[in-house]
Order: sequence, then structure tokens, then C-alpha cells
Amino acid sequence: MTESSVIDRNPTETPSSPVFRRGHNIVAVASGKGGVGKTWFSITLSHALAKMGKRVLLFDGDLGLANVDVQLGLMPRRDLNDVIRGRLGMDKVTQRFEDGGFDIVAGRSGQASLSALPSQRLMLLRDQLLEVADKYDVVIIDLGAGVDRTVRMLSATATRTLLVATDEPTSLTDAYAFIKLGNAAGMSKNIGIVVNQAPSTQEGEKTYKTLLKACENFLRLSPPMIGMIRHDPRVKETIRHQTPLLTRSPNTDAAEDVEKIARVVMREMADSTRATA
Ligand SMILES: Nc1ncnc2c1ncn2[C@@H]1O[C@H](COP(=O)(O)OP(=O)(O)OP(=O)(O)O)[C@@H](O)[C@H]1O
Ligand SMILES: [Mg+2]
Repeated sequence: MTESSVIDRNPTETPSSPVFRRGHNIVAVASGKGGVGKTWFSITLSHALAKMGKRVLLFDGDLGLANVDVQLGLMPRRDLNDVIRGRLGMDKVTQRFEDGGFDIVAGRSGQASLSALPSQRLMLLRDQLLEVADKYDVVIIDLGAGVDRTVRMLSATATRTLLVATDEPTSLTDAYAFIKLGNAAGMSKNIGIVVNQAPSTQEGEKTYKTLLKACENFLRLSPPMIGMIRHDPRVKETIRHQTPLLTRSPNTDAAEDVEKIARVVMREMADSTRATA
């Protein structure tokens, strides 16, 4: 895969760039292409942060195609749909995931109205999320794939958006497109890269460098590498068992890599808090 094959041919859409309020402790997990491991990574990162003693909320921001609850084998009785319908406040749909030691706001899958929320509803949701975020050390948002309006709005509430990419050509091309469109929407500064399913540490770094070169040459941007997660057969196994990786296989490669990323995330957060103090 070369750097020039990473860039998209004819990106015409230019998203608007409204001014958003950012939560100082919110981290969004995004991707260009779907199926790269965002939900699994969001869960495992939340778990790793909770194990570090942090108060963590995992928010299922993949509106309409939510599946945090599925990967964890939960049957939530209340979810984001109740918040969007105005039936319950965000704090009332937050539930404890005891095994992981963190809280969850579950989404709802297959609800068409959630995937195309009017801007006003989306803004209300964002405001409620920002309010609830004050009760936590860290909030992780698991986003849907791509860079639609919902993704842009939720990503813009975060101080850091972790863009997950794999070494598949389509994943890299779509990650580049995400950065390009995110840049046009004023999001580029908070994007950092996480390479997932890397065959080895060296291969993971090579994947990052390919993406970086394309960003530097064509966008004049240098998104930093936040971390790299090795491909690990235990991931699939734990998802099949609907049990978190850090519970079932805490000493495996992918667990070690996500714990490393959790430390980077906390360090960055502490640095940015110091810088704004
Ligand atoms: N580090 C890894 N090692 C091995 N397999 C992995 C790894 N990360 C993710 N996977 C595999 O990728 C699959 C997709 O993961 P996941 O559902 O979290 O992706 P996603 O990006 O959230 O997808 P979607 O865009 O549909 O929401 C998992 O079922 C798992 O098998
Ligand atoms: Mg997902």
C-alpha cells in the first residue's frame, strides 16, 4: 500500500464547522471503514481505565446500530432511545457494568429514527452527555463508522478522537478520508491514530507511517500515533463469549496493548488539564 493509494480520488462533501463545546474528559472512538474494532476497543479501553481506578462512562454513540450491550451480553432495560424521546434523563439510563467496573449508556439497534436525528435533538443529547460527563474521570464514546453529522457532532465534544484503522487498503483510504473531512469540519487537531489488528508491532508502525505520509503530503497534517494493538485470536473468542478481554484473557497481547493506550490517554488528559489551568 503506497501513500498515494491511500488518498481518495474525488471528495466533494465539505462538512460545516459549527462551534462546539468540548468535554475536557471525553474521548471518542471513530473509524472511516466499519468493522475495524471500534466497539471492542471502546469496551476494552473503558475496562483498562477502570482498572487504573478511574471513574469511567462508556457511551454507545453508534446511534441506530448500537452494539456495546451485545458484545457485553447485557439486556438494558433503558437506553438512549428513552433520552431522545424525552422520557428519561441521561443519568437515569446509565447502568453499572459490574464486571468491568464502569458505567454504560446503551444505545438501541435497528431504530431508524436514531440514525438520522434532527440537529436540535442531537444538540440536546450532546448537552446531556456533557452534563453527565462531569461525574466521571473519563467518558469513552463508541461512534458509528464514517464521518456523518452525528459522528462530527459527538467527535467535536471530545478532546481526543481516536481514529481506528487497520492495514487493509480500504480501512486506510477511509481513515484518510475521515481525517480530510474532519479537517474541513475543524476536528483535525483532536484526531489521533490507533492501528488495530496489526500482525506485529513493526507492521503496525508501518501502517501508521503510510497514513501519516499521505496526511503530511496532501493535507499538511500530522495526526499522532496514540497506540497500536496487535491482532489477537483471543479478541474474537472473548466477543463470542460476550465477556470482556481483560476479564477472560487479561495477559494476552491485545490486552497489554490497550492498557498501554489507556496510560497514554490519561497522560494526555492530565497534560491538557495542566495546559488549560
Ligand atoms: N485486535 C484484534 N485482534 C483480532 N480481532 C479483532 C481485533 N480487534 C477487532 N477484532 C475483530 O473485529 C471484529 C469487529 O469488531 P467491532 O464490532 O468492535 O468493530 P466496529 O468497528 O465497532 O464495527 P462497526 O463499524 O460495525 O461498529 C470483532 O468481532 C473481532 O473479531
Ligand atoms: Mg461498533
